[in-house]
Amino acid sequence: MKVTVVGTGYVGLTTAVSLAYLGHNVIGIDKDEQKIAMLLEEKSPIHETGIEVLLKEVRHNLYFTSNTLEAVGLSDIIIIAVGTPSRPDGSADTQFVENAVREIAEGFLDGHTYIIVMKSTVPIGTNRRVQYVIEATLREKDIKAEFFVASNPEFLREGMALWYSFFPDRIVIGSEHNEVIEKLRLLFKPILEQTFSPPAFIPRPQGYQLPPLIITDPTSSEMIKYAANAFLATKISFVNEIAGLCEKVGADIVEVTRGMGADPRIGAPFLQAGLGWGGSCFPKDTKALQALANEYDYSLPILKAVCEINQRQIYLIIEMLQKHLKVLRGRTIGIFGLAFKPNTDDIRDAPALEIIKELLTRDATIKVHDPIAMVNMRNVLSSNQVEYCEDPYVLANQCDAIIIATEWEAYRHLDYSRVKTNMRNPILIDARNCLDVHEIRRLGMIYNGIGRV
Ligand SMILES: NC(=O)c1ccc[n+]([C@@H]2O[C@H](COP(=O)([O-])OP(=O)(O)OC[C@H]3O[C@@H](n4cnc5c(N)ncnc54)[C@H](O)[C@@H]3O)[C@@H](O)[C@H]2O)c1
Repeated sequence: MKVTVVGTGYVGLTTAVSLAYLGHNVIGIDKDEQKIAMLLEEKSPIHETGIEVLLKEVRHNLYFTSNTLEAVGLSDIIIIAVGTPSRPDGSADTQFVENAVREIAEGFLDGHTYIIVMKSTVPIGTNRRVQYVIEATLREKDIKAEFFVASNPEFLREGMALWYSFFPDRIVIGSEHNEVIEKLRLLFKPILEQTFSPPAFIPRPQGYQLPPLIITDPTSSEMIKYAANAFLATKISFVNEIAGLCEKVGADIVEVTRGMGADPRIGAPFLQAGLGWGGSCFPKDTKALQALANEYDYSLPILKAVCEINQRQIYLIIEMLQKHLKVLRGRTIGIFGLAFKPNTDDIRDAPALEIIKELLTRDATIKVHDPIAMVNMRNVLSSNQVEYCEDPYVLANQCDAIIIATEWEAYRHLDYSRVKTNMRNPILIDARNCLDVHEIRRLGMIYNGIGRV
């Protein structure tokens, strides 16, 4: 099928590359000409496992441009994957979606039929709004094309985005038109039936079950995405709440969640206590859901608490530092990990950034390290504000404390006796509970995890 993907960020690029791999003819569009220039040179503007390898492999099926008007004309399916950031009041800002939709409609050709697929996470009712914007644009430009709008929320996880594109837990389609549903079923057929040979570096997981196709109305489809993210955020905040109590009573949250997660009704994923959730989705989507509820004068007390607990985790770390060091002014604090989670360079709403900002207001000196996210962080914090260290052992030099803010695999395998030797005070705050408490304490370091004895 001829597919155009509008927006080549984390979602759009992954979608474009995976659909091209499955044999579709794909054009990726982005307003950002720098991104397009990189992509045309087969370089990925984002860090995502395997994406550059596949970019090269699928070039015969995949083209990139910043010219929406030209790209759209002969497409069967146009997938929208542009950003939907938060407005100051927490609601989702749909200006990028509206602009993209107008530009797409202007590229329609007389006599053609198009399916517009909304992959961006959008406020409830956006499908109807998009329908209206396209109709108005076609009227204004006197274009006689037929079109349908469908919702297809994305559930990929950064760091393993391609993996989740090829092996999703489910595919959701929100549409009330049978012909649209059938076309989209065809688009995703290789995934739904797992008839493709996966790339060698992303083998099909053993025991992987065919993903269900969930067909529903557009409004429910839009709500599925928000509700799913709100639930996952709830799971993490719940565990963090229990972790706080574990510390009081002397229980170890790692042991507690091991026991809890074994119950399939609860499940182990997203049951790790730590610094809390961040990233480009949970913070903005939980805010957008609350803003939506406000429009109806409906309260969401659980979600409100979920967000408050998440914010509290940041101050917990500050309190731990104050407990050990008393005064933070003039102290040197090292931060291991900047990305909001491992295996990504995404620092949007990263908890590490929140901690750094809090420490800077207390006049602490900050040294940071991250295997790949320092490039992005340099656009947010200058080297006058924090010291960027390429080597974690160099970071440790003269540190009064180190905080592990992102559980990169590399941090599990450091030589902590060497880290300790370099530090001024051997205080380690494992804000992701990723190290062995006993091993670190055996080295003579002062170890603090979240909810651990
Ligand atoms: N990142 C994730 O893990 C994830 C997962 C599921 C859903 N989502 C949702 O998917 C959407 C996209 O997220 P993302 O992380 O990929 O965003 P992103 O910021 O990485 O990418 C968005 C891209 O769209 C481009 N763009 C904006 N307006 C455009 C236009 N008019 N024409 C062409 N390109 C345009 C931007 O230049 C940017 O490259 C959001 O709604 C997000 O909530 C994201």
